[in-house]
Amino acid sequence: MEQRPRIDGHTLLAGVIGWPVAHSRSPLMHNFWLEKSGVNGVYVPLPVAPGQFETAVHGLRAAGFRGVNVTIPHKEAAYRIVDRLDRSAERSGSVNTLVFAENGTIEGYSTDGDGFVANVEAHGIEVAGGRALLLGAGGAARAIAASLLDRGVKVIVANRTRARAQVLAASLDGIELIDWEQAGQALPSCTLLVNTTSIGMEGVAGGAFPFSLEQASPDLVVCDIVYVPRQTALLEQAAARGLRTVDGLGMLIHQAGEGFRKWFGAVPDMGPEVEALLDADLRRARAG
Ligand SMILES: NC(=O)c1ccc[n+]([C@@H]2O[C@H](COP(=O)([O-])OP(=O)(O)OC[C@H]3O[C@@H](n4cnc5c(N)ncnc54)[C@H](OP(=O)(O)O)[C@@H]3O)[C@@H](O)[C@H]2O)c1
Repeated sequence: MEQRPRIDGHTLLAGVIGWPVAHSRSPLMHNFWLEKSGVNGVYVPLPVAPGQFETAVHGLRAAGFRGVNVTIPHKEAAYRIVDRLDRSAERSGSVNTLVFAENGTIEGYSTDGDGFVANVEAHGIEVAGGRALLLGAGGAARAIAASLLDRGVKVIVANRTRARAQVLAASLDGIELIDWEQAGQALPSCTLLVNTTSIGMEGVAGGAFPFSLEQASPDLVVCDIVYVPRQTALLEQAAARGLRTVDGLGMLIHQAGEGFRKWFGAVPDMGPEVEALLDADLRRARAG
């Protein structure tokens, strides 16, 4: 690995804005990539309280930052602040990556959906033309639904709160809805099952899926975007039935790539090293 350049007048700056932000693994990931690629850059956590987002963004831009990632609770505020939205941000209704362009404008991107698809495809699974049962209708679901639809996937959404699923379906053409309790009926004909709910996430009590994987086709690929723990109960059940699985950590890595390329002008190394680094860090945090 190359020697990390010292911080100097040429250091490229980026970071992640959130509240709280201390739990974010983005600094670990981006600084690993910076070190690996020998870029003179640094990526820092930026705790910004609700109400301070706009001031912080304009201040960071004025201070010469290349851009920032945006996480909870600022993704909708980020959508409103930009001068230019890319198609993925427009379709997903939120922004997780801001780029401060040289002409002074702010560009907004949503990379969760394409990060999800890139990760599934990195596992050798072709999503195009398939049929997906998407569980959940929150921010991540909308981004993933948009990216799947763009690849010609038939998307069926089931959400505990049907009204929220209806809002999602109204904003994206081509989505089919199924009642949460009836979701299992869609399984036999699906090639992809994607959990975007927080069921199974550490620290989230309760919640159960309204189906059994016994109803699934043997070709079903089961994806969970929850990554703490990596092996969720859903993925364990799927693996026990011999189904292929994709966990959420790779999505976290792939959604970060676009920002890194745009801010630092280098290609991040998506290989197993960064995954091992994050995996070890998550395990350490869980062990407490
Ligand atoms: N791997 C990654 O890179 C990545 C990226 C983004 C998000 N995530 C993870 O994805 C999950 C969702 O994130 P989000 O931003 O989309 O959150 P969100 O907007 O708050 O949406 C949460 C979703 O979970 C559903 N839900 C929550 N508790 C439930 C329960 N007990 N039973 C059934 N449904 C339940 C909600 O249903 P209702 O509408 O009925 O409340 C809603 O559809 C989180 O665990 C997050 O950490 C991972």
